[in-house]
Amino acid sequence: MRILVTGGAGFVGSQFVRALLLGRLASGAGARVTVLDSLTYAGNEANLSPVAGREGYAFVRGDVRDPVVVDEVVRGQDAVVHFAAESHVDRSIADAAPFVATNVLGTQVLLEAARRHGVGRFVQVSTDEVYGSIAAGSWTEGSPPAPNSPYAASKAGADLLALSYHRTHGMDVVVTRCSNNYGPYHFPEKMIPLFTTNLLDGRKVPLYGDGRQVRDWLHVLDHCRGIDLVLRGGRAGEVYHIGGGTELSNRELTGLLLRACGAGPDRVEHVPDRKGHDLRYSLSFEKIREELGYEPLVGFQEGLADTVRWYREHRSWWEPLKGRAALPV
Ligand SMILES: NC(=O)c1ccc[n+]([C@@H]2O[C@H](COP(=O)([O-])OP(=O)(O)OC[C@H]3O[C@@H](n4cnc5c(N)ncnc54)[C@H](O)[C@@H]3O)[C@@H](O)[C@H]2O)c1
Repeated sequence: MRILVTGGAGFVGSQFVRALLLGRLASGAGARVTVLDSLTYAGNEANLSPVAGREGYAFVRGDVRDPVVVDEVVRGQDAVVHFAAESHVDRSIADAAPFVATNVLGTQVLLEAARRHGVGRFVQVSTDEVYGSIAAGSWTEGSPPAPNSPYAASKAGADLLALSYHRTHGMDVVVTRCSNNYGPYHFPEKMIPLFTTNLLDGRKVPLYGDGRQVRDWLHVLDHCRGIDLVLRGGRAGEVYHIGGGTELSNRELTGLLLRACGAGPDRVEHVPDRKGHDLRYSLSFEKIREELGYEPLVGFQEGLADTVRWYREHRSWWEPLKGRAALPV
């Protein structure tokens, strides 16, 4: 199978490409993988160094909003797995424009090229954040999108466009929506790598508001396993949730990270809450479990310990990125 992976130099996309080419996912058998990535502040070719030079792997630096580049790389592909996105909620609050441009327009440019070239399958990789916030219970795939942040709204827009290409043009589109990921190669602006690297540097960690917000955590490799199942066996026009089943408040997670790094509560700095901060996300993932046999395999305790160890041992990876992690003012 010839697979185009957009955003393959980012956190989740690079895990997907490494897992494909290093034999950890079934779709990887005999696959030819092309990565399309514009290398924004969040993209890093070093994330792909474990597979650089492999037979069947190619990297193209290009923008998903550029119809000329997109047309060239989409031609001849059997599948597109679309990760490329602006992904940091705080940045979308500071400036929503790049989010609309990349996440909505970029997705439309890709869909159009995939339609023109008769690509077999288009996987739109999305997030639980499109649903807004849920006080109790869990969202199902039939729950209506009600996004609150500009990031989530741009992802919801992209998902709806992708599904419209299925309904209007009969394209083979599937949408995955996943909960919060953690693991290695995660850009140090997001909570787990930010807090871990700050603690390893002897610095404080900025906890939003009272830290009551609850997120469902999933190891990034399990997310990629779910995408692999959907790529091979998902039904066209359907949405599939990929959940982790480990719900933690930010305060609880902070406590675990302090312990893992041998730091005390004095290292927490309470900062004003994020505007419009969603209180709780929770996905039901019965559908993918029943239809495709998905199960998260990495236990949270073991996964978090491995992740903290990875940051401890890969200072040379994250140190140069810490400067880039500052929000634009
Ligand atoms: N990280 C999570 O917890 C999580 C959870 C659910 C869903 N997702 C989804 O997974 C996808 C990947 O998330 P991530 O955490 O890896 O993000 P990331 O920010 O780490 O990576 C995004 C990648 O996309 C590239 N990119 C951005 N704009 C581009 C453009 N215009 N053209 C080409 N490439 C561009 C960047 O260079 C980077 O390599 C996103 O679509 C996100 O919505 C992420």
